[in-house]
Order: sequence, then structure tokens, then C-alpha cells
Amino acid sequence: MSVSASARVRSRPRCERCGAPVSAAAERDWDAGTYDRVSDPQFGWALEQLTRLNLAGDEVILDAGCGSGRVTGELAGRVPSGRVYGVDVAPSMVEHARRALGAKATILCQDLIELELPEAVDVVFSNATFHWIHDHDALFSALYRGMKSGGRLLAQCGGLGNIDSFRQIADEAAAEEPFAPYFEGWRRPWNYASAEETAEGLSRAGFVEVKTWLQPKRVEPQRAFVETVCLVRHVDPLPDELRSRFVDRVLAECGDPLVLDYVRLNMSAVADGAIRA
Ligand SMILES: C[S@@+](CC[C@H](N)C(=O)[O-])C[C@H]1O[C@@H](n2cnc3c(N)ncnc32)[C@H](O)[C@@H]1O
Repeated sequence: MSVSASARVRSRPRCERCGAPVSAAAERDWDAGTYDRVSDPQFGWALEQLTRLNLAGDEVILDAGCGSGRVTGELAGRVPSGRVYGVDVAPSMVEHARRALGAKATILCQDLIELELPEAVDVVFSNATFHWIHDHDALFSALYRGMKSGGRLLAQCGGLGNIDSFRQIADEAAAEEPFAPYFEGWRRPWNYASAEETAEGLSRAGFVEVKTWLQPKRVEPQRAFVETVCLVRHVDPLPDELRSRFVDRVLAECGDPLVLDYVRLNMSAVADGAIRA
């Protein structure tokens, strides 16, 4: 590595717990233990996706945005003669997944748009993650670079229209006192893309046989799910004493029972070796 390149790598922010270089996203962690307990909706969506993934059992798989490792464990069980890498930018998720999975998978603390794997993979699988990443072009290019020629991508994330009315209520609450001052300069965390723009983005990155489609899903969540998943980035800028109050304020407008209209964006594609060459 040249002197200037190594200086660049050293100057990048690093994960406090594992020392890996990560982007600023790592500064915004998750409550991995609670996520693991309340993430049945995501787990169910992942299992549904897995019914579309035919595996021989010897593949090398990346679980992109592996979270607490629940889904990563399912992947590992499906490739007894293969290998599974889980990548996540949140240190608590990485720690949880490492503890939960032991030797079943290699868990790396990285930002997916700066993905660097020890080896190219046959399959990139991802669930409930890509909508947390603003730059899908950078994401798709990074995934593509990490795949073998002919490798498969199968992913699902939030898509256009996802929990629209809930998001509107959260926006209104964030604009009110006493919360508003804390949201000055705050960036909305989600990128809910359409099926069309996602297909174009995947093709631009070099993927072929691209299929994308939206799928509505209804969820009746518990409060902990709303706090830990839906509003995870909203509570970030708030002081401790206002966090529960903000969640209460949003829930008060949502109706009882709370129903969230999720819209999932599915994608499948193949990494075209010709583009890599
Ligand atoms: C809702 S969780 C989904 C976890 C898991 N895939 C599942 O289905 O339960 C979203 C995960 O994406 C991770 N994530 C968000 N942005 C990321 C990025 N840029 N690079 C890596 N992981 C990211 C978060 O840290 C979080 O663990």
C-alpha cells in the first residue's frame, strides 16, 4: 500500500469495539438485544425470501446488514459445506451476532458501501437493510465488486410508500415543541426506492437478469418494535428524558390497535462476469 493510501485508511473512523474502519453510520448504533427479541416481522420476511433461494449447500454467502444474526444463522444452516459472512455497521449488532453464531459465520463490522470481504461470494442475501442506506448506486457497486462472476443477489428492503402515514406522524411530532430544536439539520434515515429506479440502479452497477417488485405487508407491532426499529434514528438526537415522550407522542396519533402498512421492495439479480472483465 502506498504511503498516502495507508494514511487515508488510518484516518477513517474506526469501530470502537472491533477496530474496523467504518463510516459515520457506526456512530448510530441499535439496541441489538431488543431488536433480536422484537424482530419477528423481519425474520418472517427473510424466511419467505429464503424460499426463493435454491442452494446446493456449498456456496459462500454474504448476509448484507446481518443485524443480530437471526437470519444469518438460517443461512449458515443451509450451506453446511459452504461459508457465511455477515456484515453490519452497528457495533452492538456485530457483537450480538458474533456471540449468537460462534463459528457458524464470520461477522464483520463494515459499512456495506465500503465492503471488503476476504473472498468473493456466490450469493448476496439481504433483508430489511438497504432502505437504511441513502446511496444505492454506491451500495450496488460495492456488492457487485464482492461477488463472483455469475453470483446471485436476493434482497428485500423497505420500498416506495413504506409506512407512509406513520412517517408523516413522526415528521409532525419532530416539528413540534419540545422536540423540534433537536431535529434541526437531522436527515431522514430512510431511502424507500421504487421498483423501477432500483432495477435501473442494479443494471447500472452491472447486474443482469434483474427483477424488482413491491409487496405490501401489514404489521401490528408492539411498542418496543416501534421504539427500537421504526423510530431508532428519530430518538438519536433527543436527550434521554425526551425519548419515551417522543415515542408516546407518535403512538398517540397512530390509532389503537397500531397497524403499520409496510411495503417491501424485492430484488433479484445476477452479477454479470462480462462487466467485471
Ligand atoms: C432492520 S435491521 C435488519 C437486520 C437483519 N438483516 C434482519 O433481517 O433481522 C437493519 C440492519 O442494517 C444495518 N445497516 C444499516 N446501514 C448499514 C450499512 N451502511 N452497512 C451495513 N449495515 C447497515 C443496521 O445496522 C441494522 O443492523
